[in-house]
Amino acid sequence: MMADRKPLISGNWKMNQNHFEAIQLVQKLSYALTKDDITAVDVSIHPPFTDLRSVQTVLEADKIPIALGAQNCHWEASGAFTGEVSPAMLQKLNVSYVICGHSERRQLFGETNEDVNKKVKAILKHEMTPIMACGETLEQRESGEMEDHIVDQVLEGLAGVKKDAVGGLVIAYEPIWAIGTGMTATPDDAQQMCAFIRQTVEEKFGAAAAKAVRIQYGGSVKPGTAPELMNQPDIDGALIGGASLSAEDFAHCIQYRLR
Ligand code: 13P
Repeated sequence: MMADRKPLISGNWKMNQNHFEAIQLVQKLSYALTKDDITAVDVSIHPPFTDLRSVQTVLEADKIPIALGAQNCHWEASGAFTGEVSPAMLQKLNVSYVICGHSERRQLFGETNEDVNKKVKAILKHEMTPIMACGETLEQRESGEMEDHIVDQVLEGLAGVKKDAVGGLVIAYEPIWAIGTGMTATPDDAQQMCAFIRQTVEEKFGAAAAKAVRIQYGGSVKPGTAPELMNQPDIDGALIGGASLSAEDFAHCIQYRLR
């Protein structure tokens, strides 16, 4: 992690925790973290939509310095889109970060790079920060298509986004074979791909954007694997699924510097 990019550690709760459980988890997490932890690292949590209002209330009432995040959104501000949630609604709840293009959305719900691009732009327009996810399947890695696939995801996802805005974004590199499998990428493999993503950003958007953009690694990050991953020069944070559902494990990941 380079000194001038503040790490961002994000907990993606996926479709877990009802709003009562969410309140408990946030409170436990706030007890497990110290002021120093939150000064050194930005932290965001991404509960399901039905929990956002409850979690926002707890974070604000107890002045817990954890950013509120969402897992997805639609690109339109309002309209006839049954079942969707708009970026304007998230902005009203003081959501800071919105994940878009998670591999589960791409694989299970058919999201395309074009959809992700519309979401990135809509999130920016509503003054929130996109965490744009990308990652390859095991098949793509083994057949040597991995790099082309990542370039397409990154460049098509960011098409038409201004250089200055790109520097403020977060990109999450999440190899699909590492998600929820316990098979973390080695720190070297993760570093190599995060450096490759940074280089891709540099070629298209310039050195300043590449230097500023934060790149997270995601895929079976646990307290034991977080320190070595976070020590890599191009890894600026982690997007954590399973381990973020335990306040203790998530706090230990955030405290990677102490381990
Ligand atoms: P796991 O940490 O459970 O592997 O999930 C990673 C992920 O998909 C975060 O978005």
